[in-house]
Amino acid sequence: ALAQQEPAAPAEAAEIAPGYATDADLRDAAQGLFGVILPAAPPADGIEAARRELGAQLFFDPRMSSSGLFSCQTCHNVGMGGVDALPTSIGHGWQKGPRNAPTVYNALFNAAQFWDGRAADLAEQAMGPVQAAVEMNNTPDQVVATLNSMEPYREAFAASFPDEAEPVSFANFATAIAEFEETLVTPGAAFDRWVNGDDAAMTPEQKRGLALFMDSGCAGCHNGVNFGGHDYYPFGVVERPGAEVLPEGDRGRFAVTETASDDYVFRAAPLRNVALTPPYFHSGAVWSLPEAVDIMANAQLGTELAEADIGAIAAFLTGLTGEQPQVPHPVLPPRTDETPLPAP
Ligand code: HEM
Ligand code: HEM
Repeated sequence: ALAQQEPAAPAEAAEIAPGYATDADLRDAAQGLFGVILPAAPPADGIEAARRELGAQLFFDPRMSSSGLFSCQTCHNVGMGGVDALPTSIGHGWQKGPRNAPTVYNALFNAAQFWDGRAADLAEQAMGPVQAAVEMNNTPDQVVATLNSMEPYREAFAASFPDEAEPVSFANFATAIAEFEETLVTPGAAFDRWVNGDDAAMTPEQKRGLALFMDSGCAGCHNGVNFGGHDYYPFGVVERPGAEVLPEGDRGRFAVTETASDDYVFRAAPLRNVALTPPYFHSGAVWSLPEAVDIMANAQLGTELAEADIGAIAAFLTGLTGEQPQVPHPVLPPRTDETPLPAP
């Protein structure tokens, strides 16, 4: 018998991604979940300009550490995505800290700082590393003494905090750094250009990755302008990863709240510029972005994604790489005889 001819299949609507007929459909869905990064506003006034400039100096000044070796820049290198690209940071005395350094880029968009959200904002955050024994190992008094020993710093603090009787203070040190960090934003990522109407800014694979990112559940935790950074979830909602990725000793938010339900709970990591900031997770144990996506799908969603889907999501995440701010290395005031000597 002659094989009966198959009836012609109804013409497939050429979708740009599963479930989305057009860029406009996909854009509608994405706009409700995420946000676009705008360039940093120019300083509102002379005080803000002065604080930003001072904050940049402080960010780069290794004399803010007791050894004279470590600055914020050591672990948050603004020439390479705002990170040190180490599994976990190395600080004072070559000590290895317990966690991977997150980027300072776009950190102002996070609802709270650190992997466990234990600092409310950038200014509170900036007081931590200076005093942490495994980071800069300094004291607020010693920082203030160092700053007071150099006339250009005294002048810069006076210009930045003109209404204060004692402008050189540890709190103002933190405020100036925070105002500098607020300029470290990365607009113009492929995703943002696409949201703003440029259909060609993302590849077909990236659009498919975006659809998968939204529809398989990633966006449930990684949303908002920073694709994360504002809510807390167990690492391992469905299946806890092995100890090489999730070391047992770091119980995350449990150490902050001492609440049983916060055991191994971490802030959903912000994913802007994630392609620039391996290794991944608070343990820094995973160097490959597709592998990190695969682990997330298993641990958080209980899903085994096909390799092509993992690739598409990773391609989409690469489209979150924005324009990197050009940060010139500031010239720092020379030491004086009053400047405390570096301690061993
Ligand atoms: C976390 C800024 C010094 C290593 C952070 C965060 C910011 C920041 C904003 C939080 C980012 C986020 O939660 O997404 C600064 C500033 C510094 C400084 C302004 C100088 C005053 C350092 C140094 C090191 C370091 C010297 C390495 C020795 C880390 C690590 C974390 C972190 C490991 C994550 C810690 C945790 O979550 O428990 N830093 N940092 N930082 N930074 Fe720094
Ligand atoms: C971390 C992607 C789903 C919560 C990460 C990281 C990536 C990622 C790449 C590492 C970022 C870095 O180290 O800088 C994804 C993808 C998902 C997904 C592609 C979907 C397949 C989820 C879901 C949740 C979640 C559904 C919440 C239930 C978290 C948390 C972290 C994280 C808490 C930080 C983990 C840690 O402590 O190291 N995600 N994610 N993610 N994600 Fe997801």
